[in-house]
Amino acid sequence: MDEEKGLVCVTGGAGFIGSWLVMKLLQHGYTVRTTVRPDPECKRDISYLTSLPGASEKLHIFSADLDQPESFNAAIEGCIGVFHVAHPNPLKEQDEEIVTKKSVEGTLGILRACLNSKTVKRVVYTSSASTISHSGTNKDMVDESTWTDVEFHRSLKVYGTSYVAAKTKTEQAALEFGENNGLEIVTLIPPLVIGGFLCKTLPSSISLFLCMILGNEHNYEYLKNKSMVHVDDLVSAHIFLFENPNAKGRYICSLAQVSLEDMSRFLTAKYPEYQIPTADSLKGIEGHKTCGYSSEKLLKSGFKFKHGLEDMFEGAVQSCREKGFL
Ligand SMILES: NC(=O)c1ccc[n+]([C@@H]2O[C@H](COP(=O)([O-])OP(=O)(O)OC[C@H]3O[C@@H](n4cnc5c(N)ncnc54)[C@H](OP(=O)(O)O)[C@@H]3O)[C@@H](O)[C@H]2O)c1
Repeated sequence: MDEEKGLVCVTGGAGFIGSWLVMKLLQHGYTVRTTVRPDPECKRDISYLTSLPGASEKLHIFSADLDQPESFNAAIEGCIGVFHVAHPNPLKEQDEEIVTKKSVEGTLGILRACLNSKTVKRVVYTSSASTISHSGTNKDMVDESTWTDVEFHRSLKVYGTSYVAAKTKTEQAALEFGENNGLEIVTLIPPLVIGGFLCKTLPSSISLFLCMILGNEHNYEYLKNKSMVHVDDLVSAHIFLFENPNAKGRYICSLAQVSLEDMSRFLTAKYPEYQIPTADSLKGIEGHKTCGYSSEKLLKSGFKFKHGLEDMFEGAVQSCREKGFL
């Protein structure tokens, strides 16, 4: 464990990315406060957080809900940094207006708490590639200057506009709040996030990613040409941008774009024990056209990716086996 680096807060620390970030911050020498949703009957098992190395001394768990933005105040007071990862569950919450309001107002409440604390030096917000993927411009590769046009996405009449709208409007509102109030806000834009996981439930991105092993054919179309990043690289990028004095604005964090056929070839070679559809049988799948994402800004600032596709698969499969999903 590194030397003490200071007190930081992670919102949504019980989730897939949040819990990995908590683990990594503890390893880096931070004292961490994390928020989980209220659990009055203490039914939820979060031992995967409380049993992390260093957690007994350096991890403090607070209860907070985006529905009540002021509920984050106590966790943020006195922190030097906040990593805002929490977002309403896109599979459970699909009413665009409700989910967008909850996400935007919850986030602005968190940012006000950061401002009022007078101790928070920088906020790192976990955005999403959905905020740059649907500009309607038909580019093959996009960078941080691109913004999704929510109306354009709505006109496509495809699944997911509530998530696309909520993430896009939340990131825009956060950056605007930072500009108007002199609060440093850096946003990270990941595509599909893959790798091992600590949480007890199967993360939705892992479920999508492993659809060829899990047998969820209806998901193939979403993986036709998907960009990906390892969860460990993504959380390292969060910490890198928090610590880098020159970090400013938006940062795409995406390793590579992989075709469904290449995933099939890779999985078949690596896991012959599973019935993986052949690359040839997948050629006819009509996928959604997706653009690539340039991580040049992040790389130019000195960040280095450590994990390739093999690590993403191995981590995801191993965690699924350990937790009984495979
Ligand atoms: N996974 C990906 O592929 C991916 C890609 C791009 C962007 N992202 C972004 O990364 C972030 C984390 O995603 P994830 O994949 O780790 O999902 P996740 O496992 O579902 O984590 C989401 C977190 O948000 C919390 N949350 C949900 N509703 C809340 C509410 N009303 N109040 C307070 N907290 C609430 C959840 O709390 P509970 O644990 O109590 O449910 C959970 O800790 C999200 O902002 C997501 O948009 C993820």
